[in-house]
Amino acid sequence: MTDKIQSTEAYKGVRDFYPEDMAVQQYIFSVWSDTAESFGFERYDASVLEPADLYKAKGAENEEMVNEQTYTFTDRGNREVTLRPEMTPTVARMVAGKRRELSFPVRWYSIPNLFRYERPQRGRLREHWQLNCDIFGTNDFTADVEIIALAYQMLLNFGADSKNFEIRINNKQLMTDFFANKYQITDVETLRQISGVLDRKRKVAESIFDGLLEEFVQERFEELREDLKLNIDDFVKLVNAENQNSTLIKVKDGLKDLGIGNVVFDASLARGFNYYTGTIFEIFDVSGENNRAMLGGGRYDNLTEMFGGEAISGIGFGMGDVTMRDFLETHDLLTSNITAPDLMVIPTDPKYNLESQQIAMDFRNQTGVSATVDISTKKLGKKIGDASDRLVDYIIVVGDDEATSKSFTLKYLNEDKKHTGTIAEIIEQFSSDTN
Ligand code: HAM
Repeated sequence: MTDKIQSTEAYKGVRDFYPEDMAVQQYIFSVWSDTAESFGFERYDASVLEPADLYKAKGAENEEMVNEQTYTFTDRGNREVTLRPEMTPTVARMVAGKRRELSFPVRWYSIPNLFRYERPQRGRLREHWQLNCDIFGTNDFTADVEIIALAYQMLLNFGADSKNFEIRINNKQLMTDFFANKYQITDVETLRQISGVLDRKRKVAESIFDGLLEEFVQERFEELREDLKLNIDDFVKLVNAENQNSTLIKVKDGLKDLGIGNVVFDASLARGFNYYTGTIFEIFDVSGENNRAMLGGGRYDNLTEMFGGEAISGIGFGMGDVTMRDFLETHDLLTSNITAPDLMVIPTDPKYNLESQQIAMDFRNQTGVSATVDISTKKLGKKIGDASDRLVDYIIVVGDDEATSKSFTLKYLNEDKKHTGTIAEIIEQFSSDTN
């Protein structure tokens, strides 16, 4: 017991969700799940607790994540437990565990909360929710196209224009071949270190980045810098003049065929996780307001291997709620009525509260709109102002005249329109409007 007055602040880097934040969160989750389901993805979930070993095992390990970013503790039974920092090892574990029963390919999605001990900043917190969509059991390049098309559709379904964002793609195998063929670097550990440096390109100053990269190629540094700026065709040719059938080009062309043109090749795109083996991609806001990737993913061929048996190829992405909300706010895409009821019934005096409740109930039951009653004791003008500020769509005022005449007016706040009559009549007019 402590007598100290407790702080009302949440723990550093996590958020409280007051109703207006919760409404935004729910809206983001609903667009995420509706879109994933429209592509035939099935939802799964798991616990936030995982054995710490899951993140240390070969194939999954990511030094920065394990050593600096995980919340790990020892439980009362002396087991080392980690609050999951990402979902991919978990879903690989679940897929591997049911490999005999599953009919591949499977398309799965989830919206887990994840914990990373990071320095809180714009776009990065210590707890975030992350939509994960993954396809397991095929390494056909069309699955790469499909998963990136799904990521693209997610943003369109929030009302974004394809001009608002950019899909950056690269391929891990291509980069491995590039460093082997052109710079004779084949040592796996060195390649990992280079990948780690490339991943920091946008996170550190240019001079620091150049210095880090120079260590690996010394006097050929300028050449490497130029190589990394090449366009996709020239880069692929440089790596392997024979191999014009590169997966990366097939993926880019496949996306183009689907009408997705905002795809750019980025040779310095590396992704921080060691498990990626093929296509990798990230989506960025192009407004300049949000520097962090909104979404990142790729193909990982070996992650399921650590559970024994043959590896099952997977490809997927994670899309965070913090960066998503920043993007929506930057592009003014959160203006729709997501925090308020559709209809606000406004009694002018508390004696009309119950009658107003009956009206709200009739609307809910007969039209399907959400409806609530403003039972505060504020003045009428203030109540109408509040409804408008909260982006309520419709109001009905219940005052002396309405109560006596039983004639009410349903007023549209976003259009110059209204219906007047008995409640039954205005419900009928309203329903024929919305049908
Ligand atoms: P990631 O790049 O670490 O990938 O995270 C994906 C997205 O989650 C980021 O682009 C960002 O939107 C969000 N995110 C990550 N960390 C934070 C944080 N500390 N605060 C707020 N948002 C964050 C992965 O986690 C992979 N496991 C994704 C994946 C799924 N790959 C294949 N399947």
